[in-house]
Amino acid sequence: MTNPKYHVFVCTSCRTNGVQKGFCFNKGSVDIVNKFMQEIEDRELSGEVMITNTGCFGICSRGPIAVVYPQGVWYGDLTPEKVEEIVERHIENGEVVKEYQI
Ligand code: FES
Repeated sequence: MTNPKYHVFVCTSCRTNGVQKGFCFNKGSVDIVNKFMQEIEDRELSGEVMITNTGCFGICSRGPIAVVYPQGVWYGDLTPEKVEEIVERHIENGEVVKEYQI
């Protein structure tokens, strides 16, 4: 995939030494990454969507955080249920899920 339609960055509190340790990680962000990947696979969108885990976005109190490009929409306080809704509404149907936007 060289030019995905959507690129989702999820904070997993990755640090430059490779250690995951921090607010989003402690609030289950690895589960959030896995849920995005599962939803993308289940909906057969793997060819259009890239999921990348990242370091801190600097707004830890709203974590776990995900940012969806190309729109640059930030979502916060994520749960697996919210991820499912974001994939359905934003990724599949192009609608920003305003109630989860930060
Ligand atoms: S650790 Fe995720 S935003 Fe800071």
